[in-house]
Amino acid sequence: MAQEQVRIGVIGLGWRAEVTKYWHNPFPGGKSIVVAGADNNPERLGKFRDKVNPDADVMLDYRELLERSDIDAVAIMTPDHCHEEHAVAALNAGKHVYCEKPLAITVEGCDRILQAWQASGKHFMIGFNMRYMNMYRTMKEIIQSGEIGEVKAIWVRHFVGLGSDYYYHSWHGSSRNTTSLLLQKASHDIDIIHWLADSYTKKVSAFGGMDYFGGNKANDLTCPNCAEKAVCPEARSGPLVKCAFRQEIDVEDNNMVLMELANGVKASYMQCHFTPDYERSYTVIGTEGRMENFEKDHKVVVKSRKSNTWRDLSDRVYEIKKAEGSHFGADENICRDFIEMILHNKEPVAEPVAGRMSVAVGCAATESVRQGGGIVTVKGPQLVPLN
Ligand SMILES: NC(=O)c1ccc[n+]([C@@H]2O[C@H](COP(=O)([O-])OP(=O)(O)OC[C@H]3O[C@@H](n4cnc5c(N)ncnc54)[C@H](O)[C@@H]3O)[C@@H](O)[C@H]2O)c1
Repeated sequence: MAQEQVRIGVIGLGWRAEVTKYWHNPFPGGKSIVVAGADNNPERLGKFRDKVNPDADVMLDYRELLERSDIDAVAIMTPDHCHEEHAVAALNAGKHVYCEKPLAITVEGCDRILQAWQASGKHFMIGFNMRYMNMYRTMKEIIQSGEIGEVKAIWVRHFVGLGSDYYYHSWHGSSRNTTSLLLQKASHDIDIIHWLADSYTKKVSAFGGMDYFGGNKANDLTCPNCAEKAVCPEARSGPLVKCAFRQEIDVEDNNMVLMELANGVKASYMQCHFTPDYERSYTVIGTEGRMENFEKDHKVVVKSRKSNTWRDLSDRVYEIKKAEGSHFGADENICRDFIEMILHNKEPVAEPVAGRMSVAVGCAATESVRQGGGIVTVKGPQLVPLN
């Protein structure tokens, strides 16, 4: 009899793990349930039960979870530097795997995951939920319709993190955990550039620096214990309170990357972490027009170039429908697709190698930044044979 329900275990029960509630459908006919969770921080176990499934089995050692034969699929929601270990172990244990982005923090780590996936014969999905957002799906659709002609240039401007909120008060601030924020945050955007251009990046050149965060404060200093908390603009309360000016911070907060893709498309990605706001702005220029998105207004504007056809007669504005749920509904949809992939062999919107290629570009760009801006060739998947 065909499998009717997928039983899921989750490794890493922090902030992102809340999304696993979309998989927990214990009612009759529900296609998936979340049965267990593992986290090496005991405080996270109860929270996971509160938020996802009060009856879930919870444990500190993820290997116990992988030993359970009643678990079909595993979601990896641990910090980036743990993805390789956890994804490879889950695949070797015969589980289908959903792995959060970035796939890993090195190209070699990505290739080891892809090799384990191919050897396993199981399904694998990379957590590129941006591909499920109505905004970026609409932009892809506009390109596919031919409305702006052949894509030649893509420019992305990214204000990240509402100051230090997202990245500088936690594990994200250390390169040992992330390599750089060009993998951590930009892995989504590099992937969307690849998707919109329908090609992967060949070479990059990048500049960046730590222009605001980092400094000489003690690594164990936290905002509530800081003498400057009343005056520091980055003082925070809540779970993320490590000092944003501590010594161990070594990831750039201001990056600019130029990319050339295999099909000749030129792209740029600019990322700044000390902007007051959070916004992504994409411009895609084709041979017959250009489009630009306005995230806050939920709009994509298409401007037509003179073509001596009726297309000249108007520019067009697309009103993007607002979807409910986290990440504008994208999280629920990617979770549904993971289950459809397992139960009905549905092709993933992002193939696993796309996860590897966005990491490869992030690593090459980081190398370029740290060596002063020279051109770095992106390591292609052909360098590590995937059999
Ligand atoms: N796709 C998206 O939109 C999106 C959004 C946020 C986060 N993420 C990704 O999700 C992942 C987790 O991010 P987060 O914000 O939830 O981080 P987090 O720090 O809130 O949670 C990570 C959890 O992993 C646990 N952990 C660490 N090492 C472990 C180990 N060896 N074994 C078991 N558990 C371990 C930690 O205790 C913590 O509870 C990251 O890779 C991040 O890039 C993706």
